[in-house]
Amino acid sequence: MNGFSQRSLPTPPGAKGLPFVGETLEFLRSPGAFVDARRGKYGPVFSSRVLGKPTVYLSGAEANHWVYAGEDKYLKNEWSPAIVELLGDDCLALINGEAHRARRKLLAPHFRRVGMDASIPSILTVARKHLRRWQTDAELGPVAMVPRMRALAFEIAATYLVGEVTELGVPLGEFSSDFNTFTAGMFTPLAVELPGTKFARAMAARRRMHTILDDLVMRRDAGSRRGPDVLSTLLEVRDEAGEMLPRDTIVDELQLLLFAGHDTTVTSMSNVVYHLAMHPDVALEARAEQDQLRGGSFTLESVRGMPYLSALIKESMRVIPPIGAAFRVMTREGEFGGFRIPVGWRVAVTPRLVHLDPQYYPDPDRFDPQRWLVPTERPPFAYIPFGGGPRMCIGQHFAELEMHIVLAMMLREFVWTLVPDQDLSFTEIPTPLPRGGLVLELARQLGAR
Ligand code: HEM
Repeated sequence: MNGFSQRSLPTPPGAKGLPFVGETLEFLRSPGAFVDARRGKYGPVFSSRVLGKPTVYLSGAEANHWVYAGEDKYLKNEWSPAIVELLGDDCLALINGEAHRARRKLLAPHFRRVGMDASIPSILTVARKHLRRWQTDAELGPVAMVPRMRALAFEIAATYLVGEVTELGVPLGEFSSDFNTFTAGMFTPLAVELPGTKFARAMAARRRMHTILDDLVMRRDAGSRRGPDVLSTLLEVRDEAGEMLPRDTIVDELQLLLFAGHDTTVTSMSNVVYHLAMHPDVALEARAEQDQLRGGSFTLESVRGMPYLSALIKESMRVIPPIGAAFRVMTREGEFGGFRIPVGWRVAVTPRLVHLDPQYYPDPDRFDPQRWLVPTERPPFAYIPFGGGPRMCIGQHFAELEMHIVLAMMLREFVWTLVPDQDLSFTEIPTPLPRGGLVLELARQLGAR
């Protein structure tokens, strides 16, 4: 691939849209419909101008591989200015090259599946408490599942990250409200703290969260308590020079992990609940599996023995990927699929383009957990809800464990149906969720203890 032959190649086909804004408005209206329409019109590699930059969309397993393999060689991670400001520039998702490799090496051991048994008791305690609350609420009438899932997942995440949530020193509701304000600012176009804007409120919330977490890190560093929580690991790890991570970095990592793991997990679990309500045959099968396991304890091993639930979770994330797209920016000119991709262009990896491709998934729009239970040859990177390559989701195993436990408990405790006449259209930004909050009639399952 020499420079001359690349330069003679065309850039990917597509439209530039209006002056200044390009095709941003169409993209923001519905990123899913936007990519589907252009994929149909231009083929698997196409370009557009969105959010201030020429952007190339690549589809297919091979294309995803090309992007993941190019990390720090011909492209690098790209985040919006608002996200950079809010997350701080020294956390895992924002650092690049050698710094990223070194940080990932320090943190990865904590996130391996092996050893996650230690996190199970706290997931169970929190989940039991919330499910009991849902039951009481459901006796009074229909319940909106998304906000309840949000509260449950937030407490699980906070416990996983810092241990006892009481150690935060403020009520969890207060911390979570700041967190919501903080994340609401991530998806604003302007990273300028103009009074009264979402971004200014988000920065203020970031500062309050930072102070709370910083106090906690200081207290924990001075004390001796260590546990299976992430903060214990962040305090323990030492870089190659034997130095511990700076306190600000520890706080930024905690904020990043909460941000990266929360909405994604809430979305994934809520959408499994949605699919179970939409497909009574699937719900019957999932419940039958849990009925067999009722009364058994939750361990890494027992969670492995829930093949139908595993397939259901996978299928739900296939048809509704929790993260719509990941973005990179070209640092060197590259070539893919007979097209030239210039330096500075953005590259988008869009899971739906591969997850709904009939060459990998026959009848791709059909929701069918069974497709994961029969041996099928698929190329690597044809399934990417957790990304791939050096930036593949570090929290995947924790998220999968949490999803299995919470959903298995729900299937053992409850049966649910959708309340009629609710808005079941989906949001897309920041994550895909039923707009109406997924309102359910939740009833106690016969045989639940
Ligand atoms: C079902 C839930 C989750 C989904 C679908 C998900 C999805 C993803 C995806 C697609 C990426 C790659 C983004 C890219 O290529 O730019 C990613 C990265 C990441 N995820 Fe997750 N995630 C989930 C849960 C979690 C949890 C629970 C945590 C933390 C405990 C977490 C922490 C991270 C971090 C820190 C990164 C950045 C890694 C890096 O840059 O090296 N995620 N996630």
